[in-house]
Amino acid sequence: MAVTGKLVVNLHNLARFTNIAVPLLAGLFFVSGLRISFYFHFLSVGFLFLTILNAFYLYGQRGHSLLRNFGILGQGRYILESVGPELRQYLYSNDTEERPFNRNERAEVYRKAQNTNSASSFGSQKNFDSTEVKVRHSMFPIHKSELKHTHITFGEERGCANPYTLERPFIISGMSYGALGESAVRVFARGAKQARILMNTGEGGYPKYHLEEGCDLIFQIGTAKFGVRQSDGQLDDQKLRDLVANETVKMIEIKFSQGAKPGKGGLLPKEKITEEISELRGVPIGEDVVSPTSHAECTDIESAVRFIAHVQEVSQLPVGIKMCVGLSTEFREFVTEMKRQNVFPDWITVDGAEGGSGAAPKAFMDRVGIPLFPGLKRVNNILTELEARDRLKIVASGKLVGPGRQMIAFCLGADVIASARGFMLAAGCIQAMQCGNNTCPIGITTHDPNLQRGLDITLKANRVENYVNNLEHDLVELLCATGCRSIQELSFDHLYVPKDSTLHTYIINSK
Ligand SMILES: Cc1cc2nc3c(=O)[nH]c(=O)nc-3n(C[C@H](O)[C@H](O)[C@H](O)COP(=O)(O)O)c2cc1C
Repeated sequence: MAVTGKLVVNLHNLARFTNIAVPLLAGLFFVSGLRISFYFHFLSVGFLFLTILNAFYLYGQRGHSLLRNFGILGQGRYILESVGPELRQYLYSNDTEERPFNRNERAEVYRKAQNTNSASSFGSQKNFDSTEVKVRHSMFPIHKSELKHTHITFGEERGCANPYTLERPFIISGMSYGALGESAVRVFARGAKQARILMNTGEGGYPKYHLEEGCDLIFQIGTAKFGVRQSDGQLDDQKLRDLVANETVKMIEIKFSQGAKPGKGGLLPKEKITEEISELRGVPIGEDVVSPTSHAECTDIESAVRFIAHVQEVSQLPVGIKMCVGLSTEFREFVTEMKRQNVFPDWITVDGAEGGSGAAPKAFMDRVGIPLFPGLKRVNNILTELEARDRLKIVASGKLVGPGRQMIAFCLGADVIASARGFMLAAGCIQAMQCGNNTCPIGITTHDPNLQRGLDITLKANRVENYVNNLEHDLVELLCATGCRSIQELSFDHLYVPKDSTLHTYIINSK
């Protein structure tokens, strides 16, 4: 006998049923309260409330069509949608699926930060098809003791009066005080000091807490020049001189653009503007703070190069620039102009379009700028072709949170790795994607003291240090496997770049 009755849920009918059942139950419990037991009135009050709410959704509002058609049942969709990210992260997404960082990538950072064993078993979950770039090893790996110590000295190329030597090739990438709360700034600053690496202030104005923690700093000058600004938006030379008088300010970075939003200025949502931030940045409370798209002093390539020279002159420190690669022809003209004026930044930070941000317009985050690896290759090639590669260092950033991608960046020409989200993860970030809302559940990108409370500064600073130690450990082993004695010996030839990888496609296209 054929089975004809299929069990299906017809949501429309279920909604109609709910809309009738809720007032009926309210009436039923009311009568039961009168006749059987007073306690039924608790239920009748609850259902009466639902009846009124349902009537409001169905007849009293026009903004939500779903609620107008389905009533209270329609709320189920909004509730499920709001907890969707958590459900997917905890239950449904597999280990290699989420973005920007999948569970495997996050777990690797957590293990490094917590000093736990990161050996894997059975096999890799990465692709071994024609899309993934791999590092080529040598038949004759070397021993650690054969490695050359590679300290990186910024400013040495132009004979800067105060060059800066970085012992380990890592920088905590710019994250402003504003995007970060006080506790997080202290975690990163203390961790940087313990790990003997540099921290970039981001474009957050006067670096009060960084200075209190005493780590070596790169002070970032963003397009709004928070902390070193005249009222017309131009650089205030005296403020910059006063700032660099602080001994721990070691270098200056001029931010031309950032991977997550190249061509767009910074954005600090009004929810995050406390009295203190308004003072440190010199901005009003209660309004979003939007930085201009470019520096007032830099209207074209020639003036941009002059501005670099000016900041070098005023600060007497190594001065670098940060940019995401867009038009390669423009970058070529930029380097040509540097040669013409004989002015070179002491480093270029190449930030990939995949980079993070506290807050950025979605269209910019998704669609503007060149990803790190092809961008880095382009910058390295152009500098080499124009015989300018030996005039400066290259810092690379953009999802370089594990040693594998970091090795690739070194092979593509990077001297130093910078990371923001790697260090956030090391401090316990769970990728809740709330950085711009002041609601970071871990207390990193928030000024809410109740949320910052969760961040134990001493413990998390130790995790930052562990993370650096373990990254260095893995990089040393990878370097030995290539047979190279220093990062500087790594080259493009140490990479296997298969034909369907984005890197390969870009190299072919850009010829
Ligand atoms: C919360 C947050 C705040 C940031 N603030 C700044 C900033 O003030 N200035 C800047 O140049 N970049 C800023 N960035 C970008 C990072 O410095 C970095 O370039 C980018 O995230 C790529 O590195 P990552 O992939 O390791 O995070 C910020 C990133 C994050 C996640």
